Amino acid sequence: MRIYFDHNATTPVDPGAVEVMVRVLREDFGNASSVHHFGQRAKAVLDEARSAVASLIAAEPSEVVFTSGGTEADNFALRGVAEALEVTGRKHLVASSIEHEAVLNTLKALAKRGWQTTLLPVDASGIVTPEALDAAMTDRTALVSVMHANNEIGTIQPIAELARIAHGRGALFHTDAVQSVAKIPVDTRALGIDLLSMSAHKFYGPKGAGALFIKRGARVTAILTGGKHERNRRAGTENIAAIAGFGAAAVLAARKMAAEAARLRAMRNRLEDGVLETVPGTAINGAREPRVPNTTNISFESVEAESLLIALDLEGIAVSTGSACSSGTLEPSHVLRAMGLPTHRTQNSIRVSLGAGNTDAEVDQFLAKLPQVVTKLRALTRARA
Ligand SMILES: Cc1ncc(COP(=O)(O)O)c(C=O)c1O
Repeated sequence: MRIYFDHNATTPVDPGAVEVMVRVLREDFGNASSVHHFGQRAKAVLDEARSAVASLIAAEPSEVVFTSGGTEADNFALRGVAEALEVTGRKHLVASSIEHEAVLNTLKALAKRGWQTTLLPVDASGIVTPEALDAAMTDRTALVSVMHANNEIGTIQPIAELARIAHGRGALFHTDAVQSVAKIPVDTRALGIDLLSMSAHKFYGPKGAGALFIKRGARVTAILTGGKHERNRRAGTENIAAIAGFGAAAVLAARKMAAEAARLRAMRNRLEDGVLETVPGTAINGAREPRVPNTTNISFESVEAESLLIALDLEGIAVSTGSACSSGTLEPSHVLRAMGLPTHRTQNSIRVSLGAGNTDAEVDQFLAKLPQVVTKLRALTRARA
């Protein structure tokens, strides 16, 4: 039996969502823009999913624009605001240095085209301080983008406070909530943000479906132009089946979140305590609270993260070295580096992210196998030195 401890990379699709998707693929094949019966059926599926997604983040359905996932939502937020506000002379964009590549590389692309960009530092626990944002803001800042929960270490940023600072200087505020939606309550009104990215495949929906929340009145230019879909904000015939799966996952998340968060938090904390107790030379990276309940990032002295990942995979346990996009390379994590961890710790850390299918027995199995795997790798490292 294989153990899947990599839910921040992606999750299996919930059987209920699969059922909805198959039904829609079979029966509701119409184009939601068509006036006839078939189109209207597809439109009804779209509307229902939009309401479910909006309700999960305490938004109005009209504020939800479906996208092809988190990456497109992040691109839409950054490029859309940059383009919309360019005429006002606001050509400065601010983001945290621990954002996902979807934000960081979009900022780099905009910098090449003349936008001024600032990356905010984080403190040793992986948090953006209000003081750091305050110091970075100028009267030319168009947008501030700070992620809600970090994908590698799980820490939760003080979004409401940061959004207040951005608004105080007349800038819009975007948060990438791809890793927080469905794990913890996300309320767009309480957070006070203008834009929020989400992605279905991080919470038991399908890949290739996501959304950008755009607060009513926020100025954002469409980046995909074409037909009048999504109220002129994102052209292209909607992927109705994937969106229906996204909606079904949102309904399930709302129903299960509180109990599941408590279950995963207890399991994650037991796993962490077990590792710290049984494997010498280990440490947890980032603040232990506030954190999403399913994630931990642990460094193992004198063990290369990639080797540990492969050794655990051979034992049937799937973990990650951090961001899914950079796995397969030996690049040290930009998140751990931004937190000021020494180079060796940025290269000997793994991420364990739990999810719906995981059990206490699996945590026991991980804790039983890990010490011997680490001892073996350390012996190899010593023999090579
Ligand atoms: C924080 C964060 N933002 C954005 C993305 C990209 O989302 P998607 O895979 O839906 O494009 C991810 C996925 O790893 C993520 O973790």
